[in-house]
Amino acid sequence: MKKYTSVILLICSLHFLAAQHSSVDILRDWKFSNYDHGAAFQENFNDADWEHVTVPHDWAVKEDFNFTHDIQLTMVIQDGETTPKYRTGRTGALPYVGIGWYRTNYTVSATELEENIELLFDGAMSNAKVYVNGAYVGARPFGYISFHFDITKFLKAGENTIAVRLENFNSQSRWYPGAGLYRKVSVQKRNKTHVKTWGTFVSTHQITKKKALVHLDLEVVGEGKCTILNEIIAHDGKKIAQNSKDISLNGEAKLSENFKILKPQLWDIKTPQLYTLKTSILKNGTVVDTYTTTFGVRSIRFELDGFYLNDEKIRFKGVNMHHDFGPVGAAFHKELFIRQMKKMKEMGVNAIRFSHNPPAPEALDICDEMGILAIDEAFDEWQLGKVLNGYSKHFDLWAKEDLSDMILRDRNHPSIIMWSIGNEIMEQYQHDPNKITSYLNTIVKSLDTTRATTAGFNSANNALESGMASTVDVAGFNYKPGIYHKIREHYPTIKFYASETGGSLSTRNSYKFPVVFDTLQNKRGTSVHTELYADGQPGNYENTNVPWGYAPYKEFASQEYNDFVYGEFVWTGYDYLGEPSPYHTAKSRSSYFAPVDMVGLEKDKFYLYKSEWNEDTEVLHFFPHWSLPEMKGKKIPVVCYTTYDKAELFVNGKSYGIKTKNKPAIPEFLATDIKKEASGGTTMAQVEAYALVWEQVIYEPGEAKIIAYNKKGKKVAETRRVTAGKPHHISIKNETQIIQEGEVAVYVVSVVDKDGNLYPHYNKNMKIEVSGAAQFLASGNGDPTNVQNLSKPTRAFFNGQAVIYVQSIAKGTIVLKTNSEDFEGTNTTVIVK
Ligand code: GAL
Repeated sequence: MKKYTSVILLICSLHFLAAQHSSVDILRDWKFSNYDHGAAFQENFNDADWEHVTVPHDWAVKEDFNFTHDIQLTMVIQDGETTPKYRTGRTGALPYVGIGWYRTNYTVSATELEENIELLFDGAMSNAKVYVNGAYVGARPFGYISFHFDITKFLKAGENTIAVRLENFNSQSRWYPGAGLYRKVSVQKRNKTHVKTWGTFVSTHQITKKKALVHLDLEVVGEGKCTILNEIIAHDGKKIAQNSKDISLNGEAKLSENFKILKPQLWDIKTPQLYTLKTSILKNGTVVDTYTTTFGVRSIRFELDGFYLNDEKIRFKGVNMHHDFGPVGAAFHKELFIRQMKKMKEMGVNAIRFSHNPPAPEALDICDEMGILAIDEAFDEWQLGKVLNGYSKHFDLWAKEDLSDMILRDRNHPSIIMWSIGNEIMEQYQHDPNKITSYLNTIVKSLDTTRATTAGFNSANNALESGMASTVDVAGFNYKPGIYHKIREHYPTIKFYASETGGSLSTRNSYKFPVVFDTLQNKRGTSVHTELYADGQPGNYENTNVPWGYAPYKEFASQEYNDFVYGEFVWTGYDYLGEPSPYHTAKSRSSYFAPVDMVGLEKDKFYLYKSEWNEDTEVLHFFPHWSLPEMKGKKIPVVCYTTYDKAELFVNGKSYGIKTKNKPAIPEFLATDIKKEASGGTTMAQVEAYALVWEQVIYEPGEAKIIAYNKKGKKVAETRRVTAGKPHHISIKNETQIIQEGEVAVYVVSVVDKDGNLYPHYNKNMKIEVSGAAQFLASGNGDPTNVQNLSKPTRAFFNGQAVIYVQSIAKGTIVLKTNSEDFEGTNTTVIVK
């Protein structure tokens, strides 16, 4: 991470004057238009009637859903399809296609023009063209990459006009990409002699309890004699190392420095300790530029038997994450990413694969701060496209620059352990004739040899046979739990992890009966059980999956058996906009895969992962909920996800017996042939290895209760679910008590009975009113088939719940009022500081 600082340095011992280096976000006061104004780049263009927006901004998420947006006729070979199909909702059924113009003013003084001024975009979706005062500055097609332009020579004293033209094409993406200046824009103002943007690389070596070596590679630019001062500062503010060097600059220069630090405090998952390296450039004793780099002291090793962090073997309990925030869209909000990560940590997650493109830089800062391992991934396409207008259109011209910039921007993050050069790239099927794997691998190695390179392969056999899998340091395989043992047998030197796992589908609090597990041995190429659940609401028993997918149990079993696999990344941690597989036809607009729905509410599967992954808490969770009037007198399965050894189920006092997990020594699904990439389907035997199952429980309204016992048979915990009475009132829970100005607060709204039990069938609309220190931003309910506008203040409940996002606009108290067709609810507790 690199940060410029505008802080005035008063380091008395060196008698420094004011540092000349500042980073100013330009977020407010942008004008926006969705119309293609040919002349909008011009300085004197009249934008008076354009919309006034704040950046980060996503122009498409506020619009209405419509299944005619970006219909894609496509044959997804990875899904086993043999004929093209129309896919609606693949990119979220939102109008992200089109042109967006942004304009703002930036004022500089005549003295500031003596300096160096750079415009830095954390990401712009997409095909950015940047103009200053009517002059063309530069372009960047890739929507996920950060980029910067030196604009000094385009500026004049006084007011300057910055104009940005963005354009998204149809069939540009396989998911909702967002649209617009959806990440921060900033101006970097510094002395002509300065540290280059992303010009530091700090790595740590020879780490013992007593000491560590910190190595700095530094790139500076400027003229004349100067002193380069580097200082390392610990988290308590104490300076623990420093050195300085006199140099004479004549343009660009590269320097290297080594520092010894004593008793280093390591960056680790549990204690993510961070250090700061402050680089100052002095001329005649005066600081003319400062640049800070945050780093961690940690070692990583990639061995045949596993991944090691600080010499401790760590298994990835990972999730893939897309970049959107559900109803809020793709505009980056730090507090919403923190919300996502807190939920993931609660589930036991220790690693994120940023699928399939570089995230906002702040997301990586948060991984550093929260102790989450990260895979930074560059591409979803190389030369061969998956969609008509995807990255393949830019690969030849831009791949080197895009990949390099990802690494230059991100290589100081201790959280990043691997660089992924691609996901499920189509070149797998042709054995990579242009040798792109080694081309990209070499680019990465030229910029960083301290981390592993990787790629996510879905066609394991092709990637292994062609050598693509061994060209990267560590291979990722998607959806292949049946053949890990065979991969090790045939390719004993390949180190690997599961870059995507899962693929079972569910929606929160939905249950479909009858529940059939063993019949779901689907064949590849068929959309399992879509016809069964024509309403687009698969149940929560994890018995519906996409053809290449399977329920989580299978991955657990395979990885326990093959403990050399580095771990897994579940597809995905959160549901996301777009890719409503397998409900492709005018039914849904968001995904079904994750343990947490698109608005951040847990599905039952969340507790399965939590019970397997989170080592700090006990889990005792069962389903279905106990409000199923249509099932009265009928048999249903009851499934319990728990950390306890055994448990007993009671329905209205009647015992259904004690169950224990039943883990076979060898999973029954392991393939006998490496060519049979067995996935698909979930059997009862797989479920019972990780869950307690009472298969034939007669549903009667009242109370279901589970008592957990330890090995000795002593009662250790109890949980119950009761049949909800009539819906009685609205309960609003705000997730945060205090927020900062500009931040987003999140409220969970539930309809409950008179005793506060969730009434899980309430699906009526409510009106939302926000007053006080905030304004309404968006709402959602976790139903992938819901096509109500996300940014208008009317929201249907889904299975009794909905989530509201409000954005603070001033200091003070936020008042949220909800008005359903039956009840009113009020919450006044969030305070904006
Ligand atoms: C994978 C792909 C992901 C996502 C997923 C859905 O093949 O890499 O991006 O499409 O399937 O299961």
